Amino acid sequence: MKFYIDSAIIEEVSDIASWGILSGVTTNPSLIAKSGQDFRETIIKICDIVKGPVSAEVTAEDAPTMIKQGKEFANWHECVIVKLPITTEGLKACKALSHQGIPTNLTLCFSVNQALLCARAGAKYVSPFIGRLEDINEDGLRLIENIKEVFDKHNLKTEIIAASIRTPQHITASAKAGAHIATIPYKIFAPLVKHPLTDTGLEKFLQDWKSVCIEKTDNKC
Ligand code: E4P
Repeated sequence: MKFYIDSAIIEEVSDIASWGILSGVTTNPSLIAKSGQDFRETIIKICDIVKGPVSAEVTAEDAPTMIKQGKEFANWHECVIVKLPITTEGLKACKALSHQGIPTNLTLCFSVNQALLCARAGAKYVSPFIGRLEDINEDGLRLIENIKEVFDKHNLKTEIIAASIRTPQHITASAKAGAHIATIPYKIFAPLVKHPLTDTGLEKFLQDWKSVCIEKTDNKC
């Protein structure tokens, strides 16, 4: 499973990119608004940093305007993935853009049927939202498992992006469920690395090493 960051804040993207584990980025209109920066400039900067797939979401509600926006975004940078909502108009735009070789990420997926439609419309990615389903007492991780099962059964190549991630446990569970990618909020990355036994183990290694150095007479440590 690949790691994407779900953020439009350049500093956050740069920080996680510097870890050497980042494959891509997803944004949405709320994240762009939160960044307070220009949409086009932000997407181009992020593409230059990550040099991998970067989702930029359309804001139109009808297919012809979605297609127009999608083509414009795709011209900004070769890494741009056009993000479309799963609506009838979004599916039409997905089909048209995919047909023209423009990759798409279909977002706000909450059911297997929606995911199946996206795959048939030629979506490169589909993004099922785990956290928002859990918010209404539904099983978001089961949705990932079910989509993976039917995609495998029907040999559908659309990649599953586990989205709306709220906890580190969501990431392990998404990987076990077969998601190809997890798109993760910035604040969830640090807890993925941390383990108290790593910290105490390292402290002891360094203490032992220093005590040997101090004992040595030639002072070569
Ligand atoms: C995915 O592409 C979305 O941007 C995102 O994961 C939404 O997450 P939220 O439910 O935390 O807003």
